[in-house]
Amino acid sequence: MRYITTPIYYVNDVPHLGHAYTTIIADTLARFYRLSGHKTLFLTGTDEHGQKIEQAAKNKNHSPKEYADKISLEFKKLWDEFEISYDIYARTTDERHIKFVQQVFLTMWEKGDIYKGEYEGYYCVSCESFFTQTQLTNGCGCPDCGKETRLLKEESYFFKLSKYEKDILKWYESDPIMPKNKKTELINFIENGLKDLSITRTSFEWGIKIPQNLNDDKHIIYVWLDALFIYISSLELDKKSENLGFLPAFVHLVGKDILRFHAIYFPAFLMSANLPLPKYIAAHGWWTKDGEKMSKSKGNALHPKIIADAYGLEAFRYFLLREVSFGNDGDFNEAMLINRINADLSNEFGNLLNRIVGMSLKYSNGEILHNEVSHFYEAELNEANLHLQNALEFIENFQFNRYLEELFKALSVANLSISKYEPWNLIKNNGASKANALVSLCANILAKVSILLHPTLPKNTQKVAKALNFEITPQIYQKLILQNSLLDFKASACEALFPKVEKAFLSEEKKEEKIQIPKIKIDDFAKIELKVALVKECERIEGSEKLLKFILELENGETRQVLSGIAKFYKPEELIGKQVCLISNLKKAKIFGYESDGMILSAKSGDKLVLISPRELVESGSLIG
Ligand code: ME8
Ligand code: MG
Repeated sequence: MRYITTPIYYVNDVPHLGHAYTTIIADTLARFYRLSGHKTLFLTGTDEHGQKIEQAAKNKNHSPKEYADKISLEFKKLWDEFEISYDIYARTTDERHIKFVQQVFLTMWEKGDIYKGEYEGYYCVSCESFFTQTQLTNGCGCPDCGKETRLLKEESYFFKLSKYEKDILKWYESDPIMPKNKKTELINFIENGLKDLSITRTSFEWGIKIPQNLNDDKHIIYVWLDALFIYISSLELDKKSENLGFLPAFVHLVGKDILRFHAIYFPAFLMSANLPLPKYIAAHGWWTKDGEKMSKSKGNALHPKIIADAYGLEAFRYFLLREVSFGNDGDFNEAMLINRINADLSNEFGNLLNRIVGMSLKYSNGEILHNEVSHFYEAELNEANLHLQNALEFIENFQFNRYLEELFKALSVANLSISKYEPWNLIKNNGASKANALVSLCANILAKVSILLHPTLPKNTQKVAKALNFEITPQIYQKLILQNSLLDFKASACEALFPKVEKAFLSEEKKEEKIQIPKIKIDDFAKIELKVALVKECERIEGSEKLLKFILELENGETRQVLSGIAKFYKPEELIGKQVCLISNLKKAKIFGYESDGMILSAKSGDKLVLISPRELVESGSLIG
């Protein structure tokens, strides 16, 4: 059984690329665990208490709870749009969680791990973290985020963190911290001496009160002690005993910013509360934009939905996992994303499917039999299998970029064999059985890769499975990946996966905004031919949430294919039979791999695009001007 969690995100502001990164990694892992036969539980959610949220709500003139409800829903909506396969969406404002945290506090108190004292030191509200004066940077700056800290002097309950130093170090011996090299920093931090941790605050209200029995209700429990126990409270151990099997947690996935809380405080809290320690804490690096740390306060945060809409959710997932090595920082760069789509997804992956389907339909009516593969192509088969086994090992070790890299190496074994053996020549020269075996080699490699790629690209790999007529299931995983078997397939025609991207969508938009429009003369305008056109056909474009593909009718029955980025505002079927206005003498362009011959006019109204059409029906092809 494998229990996997993301951090629960603060509701002080809306989700950005960094949150999507962690959540997409967790989703990929959860899908992989399920496919490889583990009973899996996947938690994500929001962290809703504390001074930071109280302040954010106040700035927006909301009560903290109203504000938390609103932003928590935004996170959930985004994860639902991204089809994140979470099982539990947890919120720290849930009554169940609140009771659980108070119970834990009491357990720690009764164990003698909590005592009352006075805290004097510095606090960073943004990180919800305590520091001593010597830890600060530039006077009173937070060593983690650089923002100004505040000197606090208040009565507080303390947790005996120092008591657990040795036990935490002992736990590290089982290598729970991933990537492993992050352990050294933590060990240094601990060996410098852990101070007891202030775990209550009295100077604000938005949080969980300490248990009533302590008769001290001005104390609010420290938001990190509250938040970390969401991983346990959400299991509802009192109700569903089957959830007990999910402890210890398999992996808590976090960003490196909060590794210390998860790898030092949390194990100590768990030991104090008599709960088992997780198997792994896996910490990834930072996404930056143009070299700068991305954050809400800097205003350079990228919205994941905009990227996914422009390039397709699965291309976005692939890019995030493939581009940086887990644990390191990465810079978001649109050109690199486009390059990944075109070179990897379109060329190496999508194109291989086209080639296999094309050849098998031509040579053998779509029947792909495996009986002679090992005879003709044992070396290629072994090489591909080696890459697949490596990929498996890498994903089990949270090395996502290398897992994907190995899968694409396996694909290139298939692609290179096609160019090397030239099946079209084999067919001509009495080598039909060798040609057919080559198609089977490629189909088996593609099927195996698709199974292991399925957690990253759930929909596109299903398309491969459909085109080759197999199903991606835990049983097939066992057979093709673990037992190395080969399958027969029956190919059928299918649409292209990942059409090539020819222009940058996001930076293009920015450029548009900057262009100063000059005045023109009437003869400049005369260069533009505008016509009314009738919509004959209209459909969505697979992989793009923006584009609709139109077949338009002009005068004398002439038809044109035109693409337009209005998919978010119109349903294709409601446009058929309507008239639109078209720039009809625009040079042809390729958009998303499709030819577009003209441009449909629409008006920008706020964030919306509204189609322009004549007030009354006119003849198709009528000139405008
Ligand atoms: O820390 N690059 O919540 P949070 C990569 N509530 N990942 C990023 C990122 C970036 N630029 N920015 C954010 C909290 N993240 C606490 C967690 S858990 C019991 C409580 C991701 O909203 C990354 O996973 O500040 C990071 O750890 C997390 O968002 C922080 O989210
Ligand atoms: Mg943060």
